[in-house]
Parts: sequence; structure tokens; C-alpha cells
Amino acid sequence: MADASGVLRVSPVIPVVTIDDPQDAVPLARALVDGGVKIIELTLRTDSALTSLKLIAQEVPDILVGAGTILTPGQADAAVQAGASFLVSPGVTPALLTHMLSLDVPVLPGVATVGEVMAVLEAGLDAMKFFPAGPAGGPSYLAAIGAPIPHVRFCPTGGISPGTAPDYLKLPNVACVGGSWLTPADAVAAKDWGRITSLAGGAAALGR
Ligand code: 3PG
Repeated sequence: MADASGVLRVSPVIPVVTIDDPQDAVPLARALVDGGVKIIELTLRTDSALTSLKLIAQEVPDILVGAGTILTPGQADAAVQAGASFLVSPGVTPALLTHMLSLDVPVLPGVATVGEVMAVLEAGLDAMKFFPAGPAGGPSYLAAIGAPIPHVRFCPTGGISPGTAPDYLKLPNVACVGGSWLTPADAVAAKDWGRITSLAGGAAALGR
């Protein structure tokens, strides 16, 4: 069983990052670590994502690097082979969940409805990504899920900002939040690693 509860305890914010140029991967990851954020969800949304993932896994030992946007069993295999320490999917299908659970890394499946939460619970996991958090209902929706199902721990992601993150983090069933605001595209394009370190510092300070 590969529950992701430990992954959710690393940082109050998991940066959700898309990297176009693998040359940016290592300095970007180091900038996050310098700001106190020792975890990164690297999305498989670019052709070179696995190359970036491999570089971070090899060269930045201080950061826990996971692969996000896992949509197929093949992507899960490739991500683990590239060095992913955990896997994140935006949603689940029975086949994808079964396959990810057969691999030897923690799995954070995405859910957006109570039925999906129950299906993932049935598979033996009680840590989940709540996606897309804002459009799917936000903090009040998560608070309502906590009434019948108090033991599930969520990482809400999607539409969260530094301003709204505290509304999620104060909920007892939220372990951390995810977001892309720590690594703005213009900062990456300008290789402004100092700005990313500063944004990471602000995110790390959201910890309770
Ligand atoms: C994700 O995959 O978790 C989202 O794309 C991140 O959402 P955000 O860009 O709204 O933070």
C-alpha cells in the first residue's frame, strides 16, 4: 500500500510546477529549497517533463520530487523510472488507481466528489488531492465532506492563491494545499530564482 499521508506533511504548500526547458529544472528546485519548500509536484504537461524530473531527482537530493498530471498507467511507469518519489493524478479511474498502487511509491489520487472519495478509500488510501479545489466547491465543500468522512486528509489544488490558502489550511481535514503560484511562468522565463525563493518562503510560512 502506498499511502501519501507522509508526502502531505512535508510542506504546507506543494508547488505544482510545469517546466518547459530542462535547464531550468535544477535551479528552480534549488530556489524552492532555499525558500524552505522541500517538495515539488512536477507536471507531465511538457514533452521534456521526464528529463526535468530525472535531473531534479539526481541533482537536488534535498527536495522530494513527485510527478503530477498522471493520466495513464504508462505515464506512471515512466515517472517512477525517471525517479519520481510520489505520483499525483488529477482524477482516478479504476485501472489507473490499481496500476499506480502496484508501484512502489506513494500515490495521491485526485477526487472531486464524495463518491470518488469513497472509491479511493475502498482502495485503501486516506490521503487524496481535491481537484479542482476552487471550482469544485472550495473550503466549505471540504468542510462538508469532513462531517461524514472525517478521517480523509486532503491536498486541495486548483485555483488556490496565497490569499485563499489559509481558508483551506485551517480545516482539520486539509493537510496541505497545492498551487502553481510559487513558480510564475514569467519568473521562470526570466530565470528569476530569487523571486521563486521569496514566494517559497511565503508559502512555507503558511504552516501552522
Ligand atoms: C494542478 O494540476 O494541481 C493545477 O493545475 C494547479 O492549479 P493552479 O494553477 O490553479 O494552482
